[in-house]
Amino acid sequence: MNEFYQKDIISIKDFNKEKLEKIFTSTDKIIQLNSTDRREICKGKTLGYLFYEPSTRTRLSFESAMASIGGNSLGISDISSSSTQKGESLADTIRIMSIYSDALVLRHPLDGSSRFASEISEKPLVNAGSGTEEHPTQAIQDLFTIKKEKKKIDGLKIGIIGDLKYGRTVYSLLYGLGNYDVDVRLISPESLRIRSDSTYEIKKRLDFTESPHIEDHIDELDVLYVTRIQKERFPDEEEYLKVKGSYVVGLDLLNQMKDDSIILHPLPRIDEITADVDKTKNAKYFEQAEYGKYTRAALLGLILNKNGF
Ligand code: CP
Repeated sequence: MNEFYQKDIISIKDFNKEKLEKIFTSTDKIIQLNSTDRREICKGKTLGYLFYEPSTRTRLSFESAMASIGGNSLGISDISSSSTQKGESLADTIRIMSIYSDALVLRHPLDGSSRFASEISEKPLVNAGSGTEEHPTQAIQDLFTIKKEKKKIDGLKIGIIGDLKYGRTVYSLLYGLGNYDVDVRLISPESLRIRSDSTYEIKKRLDFTESPHIEDHIDELDVLYVTRIQKERFPDEEEYLKVKGSYVVGLDLLNQMKDDSIILHPLPRIDEITADVDKTKNAKYFEQAEYGKYTRAALLGLILNKNGF
């Protein structure tokens, strides 16, 4: 039996290198299969999604992934049009969705929400973003992008810049990178450094340096992972205004980078990468979004097929 069959995907901490590489191999297979064979993988299966927070890429890439492997999707993307408005609990909503679906995808603003929901759900549940805590399928897509674009992960110098306090993709990426031999530089304003309650957990997995100065690292990096300042998670707008626009990656900064370096971003982007960077060979964030469809198709194919595909 394949090890992902009927398994919840809650935290990237549950993935060792072997498991990640298995998903990458399955993703390559998804990319190589012709569309007719691909549609056999989850023929007749249903994915249920529940998004209590806005999403463009994650929800649509899950839907697109499920359609590409022959399944269908149903769900709630606008929670204000659901019975949550009448007071229905997350637990009951999950119970109902798991009756109608073979697997569930949940995005929710609270830390711990996916873990809680997975204990209620009769069907495997995939965390599509839980509070400021984690976004594990984004990390799988990020690691796959690095591997595809740089042909390796081990040995790379990786800078992660921006909102490291509230950006959940950062935590999942760091836990995932902990499986590889990488040199990580964390670059943020002082007030947006990684949360102290997670530092110990991250330090157990990998070494990193912290600095507010991108200039100290820019010419050494193989990968620059840019993140948005998460305005919606600041308790106080004044605090947000103090750090808004702290870093802007433009052509001036790109020109200081190694010729073969790549720039990633989980997106959405606001103003932290200028539009003129998009057309350079180093900008890989739109490819990264495309890989998200394939990594999610592979993951769903593995979760929903006893013997894989
Ligand atoms: N990267 C990401 O999670 O994007 P969305 O919020 O649009 O899903």
